[in-house]
Amino acid sequence: MIFTGRITTVVHRIIEDSVREGSIVLDGTVGNGNDTLYLAHRVGKTGKVYGFDIQEQAIECTKEKLIKEKVVERVELIHDTHTKIQRYVKEELDLVIFNLGYLPKSNKKIITKAESTLDAILQSLDLLKNGGILAITSYYGHEGGKEEKDAVEEVVSKLDSKFYNVAKVDFLNRPNNPPIIYMIEKN
Ligand SMILES: C[S@@+](CC[C@H](N)C(=O)[O-])C[C@H]1O[C@@H](n2cnc3c(N)ncnc32)[C@H](O)[C@@H]1O
Repeated sequence: MIFTGRITTVVHRIIEDSVREGSIVLDGTVGNGNDTLYLAHRVGKTGKVYGFDIQEQAIECTKEKLIKEKVVERVELIHDTHTKIQRYVKEELDLVIFNLGYLPKSNKKIITKAESTLDAILQSLDLLKNGGILAITSYYGHEGGKEEKDAVEEVVSKLDSKFYNVAKVDFLNRPNNPPIIYMIEKN
């Protein structure tokens, strides 16, 4: 059942559905590493997770979590912008996730931004396998968040339906700008 009250559960259900032992996946916004850790467990010993973040604090905190749960060797943590995805990733991906916004409990001025986010999304779509999923969770309640969300929505809405199926999860009856999830499946 994908429809639960919690956004993270929805994303984890998407991951459960499309990631298995041996999958190659990418987390474009590692942050505190919760999704990266979840992915590392799902891909198993033979899979691989690429994780990007521009903040050292995010990379270090995630590395600690991965070491603690003995899955660090399955993850390549990259302290760099996700606009350089194709410099680091040279193989096809089963799943890509992005969490747009700022790092919780950290500097709220360091946020994902429309131009770089869209660049990274388009690079990821190129790398995605046929049948692969790109899931974007947009937290947009902060300053600049709505502009980014609108830009992402405009671009993903126009992806050619011959090649991509695009859907959106929007919690319509919840207050305070609940996050929106965009799901893109490559045909
Ligand atoms: C909403 S947080 C991610 C939360 C994360 N999924 C978690 O489980 O904690 C967004 C992250 O994107 C990172 N970020 C912002 N711009 C970036 C960029 N151009 N490239 C890579 N990461 C970026 C921020 O540093 C921040 O950690």
